[in-house]
Amino acid sequence: MAFTTEERYRAYADWPADHIETIKQNTKSSPWRTNFHIETPHGLLNDPNGFSHFNGKWTLFYQYFPFGAAHGLKSWVHMESADLVHFEKTGTILYPDTALDSHGAYSGSAMQFDDHLFLFYTGNVRDENWVRHPYQIGALMDTDGHIQKLNKVLIDQPSDTTDHFRDPQIFNYEGNYYAIVGGQNLEKQGIIKLYKAVNNDYLNWEYIDDLAFDNDLTAYMMECPNLVFISGQPVLLYCPQGLDKTVLDYGNIYPNLYKVGQSFNPETATMINPGPLEQLDYGFECYATQAFNDPFGRALAVSWLALPDVDYPTDRYDYQGCLSLVKELTIKDGKLYQYPVPAITSLRAEAQLFTEKTKTDNTYELELTIEANSHLELVLFADADGHGLKLTIDPTNGCIVLDRKDCGEAFALDFGTTRHCQIANQATIANIFIDKSVFEIFINKGEKVFSGRVFPRQDQSGITILSGQATGNYYPLDYGHKTH
Ligand code: FRU
Repeated sequence: MAFTTEERYRAYADWPADHIETIKQNTKSSPWRTNFHIETPHGLLNDPNGFSHFNGKWTLFYQYFPFGAAHGLKSWVHMESADLVHFEKTGTILYPDTALDSHGAYSGSAMQFDDHLFLFYTGNVRDENWVRHPYQIGALMDTDGHIQKLNKVLIDQPSDTTDHFRDPQIFNYEGNYYAIVGGQNLEKQGIIKLYKAVNNDYLNWEYIDDLAFDNDLTAYMMECPNLVFISGQPVLLYCPQGLDKTVLDYGNIYPNLYKVGQSFNPETATMINPGPLEQLDYGFECYATQAFNDPFGRALAVSWLALPDVDYPTDRYDYQGCLSLVKELTIKDGKLYQYPVPAITSLRAEAQLFTEKTKTDNTYELELTIEANSHLELVLFADADGHGLKLTIDPTNGCIVLDRKDCGEAFALDFGTTRHCQIANQATIANIFIDKSVFEIFINKGEKVFSGRVFPRQDQSGITILSGQATGNYYPLDYGHKTH
């Protein structure tokens, strides 16, 4: 179903009562529903929001348009988790229901203050001439999940940005609260602005400056910036839309990238000695990654495994998008690593030795080792002829190649069907998570990551080795009862 502007922005209460029931049944009939990844019962999911620790549990929201596979009037849907692997929806929703967020409760972050969770987000407003007014606004959630909006603009659109100004991330640095907001300056260049909470009061923000991080200024907008600290080093994750490919070559419509700096000076809004710009994920889908420092000193991240402005085969089942596994971020030998939290192994059923399989239920993890002077050409989601998602891990030639062209339904063809990265000529470990239509491939425990979607045919559920070898295990994964 193609959505008109009127339908995208129609008030939730104005939809006919049976619409949701109809699309819900359609979504249920999809052959590609995931088993252990967060997706919606119907409608579109995009960015992870408000990832935080609150009331003794993990809190995570997602951006949501309930009425179909389209980007329309967005709300936030709340989930909780005790282990960062199993999530449950609570029923709490942050709705776009005030004059300051009338056209969408857009992305943002969260931080506990006393016994409330402060939600810091962008109110997307369109006036009668359809001119956009972005407001950085807030709400408080109590331990029962009741939300009280602050009904106050906390940060207004600055005079030196366009109406593209959104996605505030609040963070604590050395005892003070700061926020960064993504934007576009009047020269139509992507920038990130840094603010400080005056006297640590989340109602009162003062502007410090544009964040200095050797911004090449070739992007036209920075979406979803996040700053986390790992052993004192700042890690800036962001989505520079339109970044020039001579700065960094990327395959997806919009990239999700990062830089690791040596240190951070909030007084001058400077990331000191920023390292090179790097791909967060070498796969086909990974965007709007949200990261935060938890109260236990870890840096945790979760990504949206879809992209803006791309159609997905699930659209005809009236839903789109899923979230990645929760990944812990660490730095080893100066490099950023991302790997699922330890509790992910709780999904493993009994190990079986890795071999070819004609049929699986496409819900498993492979943990493989490929020796330094060897290679592995593997097909996941394989049919009887060995067609599926082809993964080549080749330490001998120092590369990994992933090709989804023969895996079920084609989509996003404008952006090619292969992705690749370089690896060292060393024994290489791959942890490969397969979930019906999602793959997350972690190389060397998170040194490189390939994430994405495929939409296999019914007969594509095998594992075929085309050439080379690997040793390791196959683990069926069992999430238990899924409520989302
Ligand atoms: C990124 C994004 C954000 C915005 C949100 C709206 O995917 O465009 O910049 O806040 O999605 O849903």
